[in-house]
Amino acid sequence: MRVLVTGGLGFIGSNFILRIIDKYSDFSIINLDACLPGSNKQNLNELKIKNYSYVKGNITNKKLVERLVSRVDVVINFAAESHVDRSIVNPRPFIDSNIIGIYTILEAIRKHKKKLIQISTDEVFGSLKSQSAHEKFPFNPSSPYAASKASAETLVKSYTTTYDCDAIITRCTNNYGPRQSPEKLIPKTILLAEKNKKIPIYGTGKNIRDWIFVLDHCDAILRVLFKGKKGESYNISAQNEIDNLTIVKKILSIMKKPKGLIQFTNDRPGHDFRYSLDSSKISSNLGWKPSHSFEEGLKHTIEWYLENKKWRKNIPSKEIKTISWKTR
Ligand SMILES: NC(=O)c1ccc[n+]([C@@H]2O[C@H](COP(=O)([O-])OP(=O)(O)OC[C@H]3O[C@@H](n4cnc5c(N)ncnc54)[C@H](O)[C@@H]3O)[C@@H](O)[C@H]2O)c1
Repeated sequence: MRVLVTGGLGFIGSNFILRIIDKYSDFSIINLDACLPGSNKQNLNELKIKNYSYVKGNITNKKLVERLVSRVDVVINFAAESHVDRSIVNPRPFIDSNIIGIYTILEAIRKHKKKLIQISTDEVFGSLKSQSAHEKFPFNPSSPYAASKASAETLVKSYTTTYDCDAIITRCTNNYGPRQSPEKLIPKTILLAEKNKKIPIYGTGKNIRDWIFVLDHCDAILRVLFKGKKGESYNISAQNEIDNLTIVKKILSIMKKPKGLIQFTNDRPGHDFRYSLDSSKISSNLGWKPSHSFEEGLKHTIEWYLENKKWRKNIPSKEIKTISWKTR
């Protein structure tokens, strides 16, 4: 199968490419990535194989996207501006990459009659009090990031309904694992704790996210690629809800660092309290289930960041800094 992976120098895209190469020998992969925030060239530095090629470019570049789409069977769109905090400071890049980007890809798959898998997020459903969102749950995005991903989903849906395009949407919960930019909670905590630096936590730290090991997410996408039904969407979750403070404490305990490193900061504006997905559809219809426990995945993740000093050299130090919000 010939696959165009967009955003393959980022966290999930790079793990996905490595997973394909590890499991299948009959794939050829083109990775289109613009090297924007979240990307790290070291993520796929070790890849020197003939069925993989990297193209530096933007998914909003119509000519380039059309040319690459014409050469593959399927596009898997991971490319996105992905950090909620940055979307609050400046939404514009999120509109460009996450909305104009998917529009450009949709036009190309429509023209060349190719298949698309759009990688989306639980954040489209907004903050939930007690229930878990199933696939038909109404959208209620809070941040510009979540709104841009919800917009992308509605565009994809419109292309399947109006033009009969072959597209599927997957929505996943918070991923953790190797190769994630340290602007995000888990790698940031590990790298700051290693240097005995203060670890910022927004608000009370009681906000809940539903965590999944990145390779479980990658395997779910592969399952959708092989068995998913055209026009459908699939929620992906490991049913593992934990609040931010508990995660940071777990990391400090594994790293044998003092809890005194924790520093509470002003809360993010519009901070969603809880995300939760019901993933019974992908389990019962496609037979997918996660295979990593949080304890095992977290230990592996901590070891990876501590051991991969070369990978860390590539990170601009501003990425480890937290944006400080003024109280409203
Ligand atoms: N990280 C999570 O927990 C999570 C959870 C659910 C869904 N998702 C979704 O999964 C996808 C990947 O997330 P991630 O955490 O790997 O993000 P990331 O920020 O680590 O990587 C995104 C990659 O996309 C590239 N990119 C961004 N805009 C681009 C553009 N216009 N053209 C070409 N390349 C571009 C970046 O350079 C980067 O390499 C995103 O669509 C995100 O919304 C992420």
